[in-house]
Amino acid sequence: MQKLNKVILYCRPGFEKECAAEITDKAAAHEIFGFAKVIDNSGYTVFECYQEGDAQKLITTLPFKTLVFARQMFVAGDLLTNLPATDRITPIIEALTGCINKAGSLRVEVADTNEGKELAGFCRKFTVPLRQVLRQKRLLLNVENSARPVIHLLFINNHSCYVGYSDTQNNSPFHMGIPRLKFPADAPSRSTLKLEEAFHQFIPYEEWDERLRGGLNAVDLGASPGGWSYQLVKRSMFVYAIDNGAMDEKLLETGQVKHFKEDGFKFTPKKHNIYWLVCDMVEKPAKVAELMAQWLINGWCREAIFNLKLPMKKRYEVVKQNLAWLNDELIKHQVNAQIQAKQLYHDREEITVHVQKIWG
Ligand SMILES: C[S@@+](CC[C@H](N)C(=O)[O-])C[C@H]1O[C@@H](n2cnc3c(N)ncnc32)[C@H](O)[C@@H]1O
Repeated sequence: MQKLNKVILYCRPGFEKECAAEITDKAAAHEIFGFAKVIDNSGYTVFECYQEGDAQKLITTLPFKTLVFARQMFVAGDLLTNLPATDRITPIIEALTGCINKAGSLRVEVADTNEGKELAGFCRKFTVPLRQVLRQKRLLLNVENSARPVIHLLFINNHSCYVGYSDTQNNSPFHMGIPRLKFPADAPSRSTLKLEEAFHQFIPYEEWDERLRGGLNAVDLGASPGGWSYQLVKRSMFVYAIDNGAMDEKLLETGQVKHFKEDGFKFTPKKHNIYWLVCDMVEKPAKVAELMAQWLINGWCREAIFNLKLPMKKRYEVVKQNLAWLNDELIKHQVNAQIQAKQLYHDREEITVHVQKIWG
């Protein structure tokens, strides 16, 4: 049985420092203290808790949804090293025994790096015999169960891995924390996947029929060539697309898109019938946050999804400041809203924010 004193967090390679700063900050707010180990461009961060039991406490009490830079979070022990090529399974079973019982599923994962990609085939093959032994030992249930914890293995190379588990009520449901989306061949730009991923990330599936239903009106600021508008049109919405740049012809032919060659910072809706505001304009994060606050406070939309482009330095601080400013501004104007933010898989030097106005 291993000592579970670490929390492993997956992130976009290059954002380990931000992920580390965020977990240290947010764990401290829950009175959990430790230090984060950063390996640049590794695609993960290890947060080691000082006090016994705190790592397990952290993965259940710190809401995963509130983490911007982490794609996944699970509790683990020390890195298992020198796993013998002839029998990697025994030390893994030993590490898990006494830590977990009757887990609901198994994910054998790698970091989102080139080295990780090279290991992916090995992980896929290794999953089958490992799953079998985990089941024999009753560490894993015979039938997948989404109410029980998920066993995670993060392979760093083919002889070292972290082993632990996540809480199904408080984790990412996706393998490696990445929803697998297929690029639609008729979409006007690759950034279409950003908005689709945001829907998967922020909107519970059982609410899609209501909140992403056909017939809703949407405004897309910085819409050209139309990747985000495409997602809305695909869901039978009507879109006001604001951009000086051209819109995809096929999208315009649907009759569901009205293109305005205007400044997105000046455009105001004529009627109060807009449900969705989406915004992908490349601008300073404070300026975008201010615009979004204006729309939400004025009641021009019910929900918003927008990107905040990150600066080169102090990226976590900038994110924290802008989200706090937006939250304070909405409270000041008595707008009851829920804010979520994530650096999505399809986000590069940016994060995606979702705000839903809550009525009543
Ligand atoms: C990243 S692209 C948007 C891509 C789009 N979301 C898609 O999926 O195809 C940013 C767009 O914002 C537009 N933009 C930047 N500043 C703007 C402004 N002040 N008003 C309107 N559009 C703006 C640019 O013309 C550019 O087309």
